[in-house]
Order: sequence, then structure tokens, then C-alpha cells
Amino acid sequence: MFDTGLLQCPTCQDGEIIWRDNKLHCEVCATDYEVEDNIPVLFEGMSQFLVRDDLHQRAFQITSDERRTRIANEWKTVLHGEEKNSGNVLEIGAGSGRLTWGLANEFEFEKIYACDLSRNLLAGIRDQVINGSGQKVDYYMCDANNLPFKEKSFDLIVGHSVLHHFVDRDKTLARMRFLLKEGGKAIFYEPVMQGKLVVAFFADLMLKIERNTGWGVLDEDDKRKIQRMSQHIKKSKWQEKASDCKPAMGQMIFDIGQMEALAMASGYQGFFHGNIEEPVWGYKLYWAQHLLSAGIAPEKIEKFSFISNAFGETFSNCLNHDIKTPTGYFVFCK
Ligand SMILES: C[S@@+](CC[C@H](N)C(=O)[O-])C[C@H]1O[C@@H](n2cnc3c(N)ncnc32)[C@H](O)[C@@H]1O
Ligand SMILES: [Zn+2]
Repeated sequence: MFDTGLLQCPTCQDGEIIWRDNKLHCEVCATDYEVEDNIPVLFEGMSQFLVRDDLHQRAFQITSDERRTRIANEWKTVLHGEEKNSGNVLEIGAGSGRLTWGLANEFEFEKIYACDLSRNLLAGIRDQVINGSGQKVDYYMCDANNLPFKEKSFDLIVGHSVLHHFVDRDKTLARMRFLLKEGGKAIFYEPVMQGKLVVAFFADLMLKIERNTGWGVLDEDDKRKIQRMSQHIKKSKWQEKASDCKPAMGQMIFDIGQMEALAMASGYQGFFHGNIEEPVWGYKLYWAQHLLSAGIAPEKIEKFSFISNAFGETFSNCLNHDIKTPTGYFVFCK
């Protein structure tokens, strides 16, 4: 049975949640919440997100033993302080479970509260990823924009590749500060504008090479797709205020400076950005992934691999954390 002790009603954001008649019940506003397959469904009203379950199934495709071990090792480096092996951890957007697996098996946390919009993904983590070994993982179907927990519940809040999906990150950051104990931290692994611009530069270089040499690898359709991908990255950069940075193509990209300003505005004591990934992993693989998801054929991508190879050979030992890869860790300290 999952823990109800830290739950707070997401509808009135006030009431305690208790068991009553096989449902979870708010003592203040009298809202009832269903529990399906031992996973509580804690949304305010009928959430628009409930219908999106199938969209999130895709997250499972990117889970592999190798990748989740790599992620666990990276988080061991990121969590080098006292928070490493104790207390309550809230994981937001647990999805594929590739971080949840590491939290449950490679650390000594007391309890892990794994949240996601998708009940299927949460059940998938429980049944396929954690495989019964994680007695200390509880699952909650809820919205990161309205987290149903009490003040000062968590020592640590984490998310792997999730913050850029949330609709209202200002509100989410403020709420997370409320949920953290004094001295607690919230840490997110996310796409970083400074590094993404390198990807956009590679894309622009591809187009220029094709145009100037008439190489004939890319057709007109490819060129449009690559241009759209590059523009998507650069357009996110033009937003002046963090609050103006609307999700583009369903996702946001974070400027480190903007994120720091947002952290300070949300009342955090400290903020920093770090990146411990290997540059070769960052630019070779992420760039190829970008192009693949833009719809470019693998053999065409391979023909342009000299760009990321040359970049890696020249720069891989001297890149700053901000552009080491197109992703990085944002740390918010309460
Ligand atoms: C890119 S996936 C990352 C999943 C997992 N952390 C990983 O690294 O594979 C983003 C996850 O965030 C979840 N998500 C998106 N919007 C959310 C929201 N508003 N509240 C809670 N979870 C959300 C999705 O269901 C999905 O599982
Ligand atoms: Zn209530």
C-alpha cells in the first residue's frame, strides 16, 4: 500500500487526504479520488492530461539497461552531498523509469515518491522496471503543475528530462520550493539552450555545405526539415522573459541565465548548472537523434558525421559545462 501521510488535496490545496470507502477523500473540500491498480489518481477536476496516456507510451522505447546504468552513475556524481543517500525523494515525470530504477537500486533513500501523468507508465515502472525489488517506491498519478503533497515533505526532488514538458514551470518551481524541506534541493536534467545552439549551428552548416557545393545528399524536403529544426532552437532563444517562453513543438529549451533568474524570483537560496556528460555522447548522438526525429534518413546523417567528429576532435577536452552537451543539470537549493 502506498503512503498517504504526505498527501495534500490538489483541488483545495489545503485538506489532508484520508482513506474512506475504498477511495481517497479530502477532509476539507470533500473531493474523492480514485485508486486504480494501487495507484492514486490525484488530479484537480477532470484533467486534460488524463486523455494523453497513450502519448507517453513512447517514453518506454528509450529505456535500456546501458542507458539507465549510465544515468544512475551520472546522478551519483550530481548527488555528491548529504542528500545522496537519505530521506524522501519526489521524482516528477518518472515516465520510462530509467531514473527511478537508479534511485531505487543504486541509492539508499528511505522512500521514493514516483509521479507521472500516465498511470500506464507508472504501472510499467512498477511491474517492468523496478521488478518488485523497490519496496520503497510509491506511485502517484498527478500533474506536475499541481503537485498533491504537503509543505516540507521532501529532502530532494528530481526529474530526468521532464521540466521542459510542464506547462507552467514558474508555478511548478514555486510549488517545489514549498514541498522541499529547509536545505533541500530540486535537481533536473534538461535541454540547455547554450548547448542546443551548437546543434543548431551544425544544422545550419549542413544546409550551407549542401547549398554551396551542390553535394546532392539532401533534397528540398530534407532542407526544410533541417531548417525548421534549427529555427525551433533559435526561436526559443528570442524570448525575453522566462514567462514568455511558451512550449514550442511541445517542449521548451532552457537558457541557463533565465533559469537562474527564475530560481531567484521563486525564492531559492542558490542555483547552479552543471554538466557531467561526455561531449562525444552529447553532440554525436543527440545531434543524430535530433535529425532522425526531424525525419532525416540515417544514411544521410552519416554522410554529415564529419561535422560532429571534427567538433569533438577539436573541442572535446575544453568545453565549458554550459555547452559540454546540449543538456545539463539544473540545481535549485532551498
Ligand atoms: C521525456 S519523458 C521523461 C521520462 C523519464 N523521466 C525518462 O527520463 O525517461 C517526460 C515524462 O513527463 C511526464 N509528464 C509530462 N507532463 C507532465 C505533467 N504535467 N505532470 C507530470 N508528468 C508529466 C510524461 O508522462 C513523461 O513520462
Ligand atoms: Zn480538498
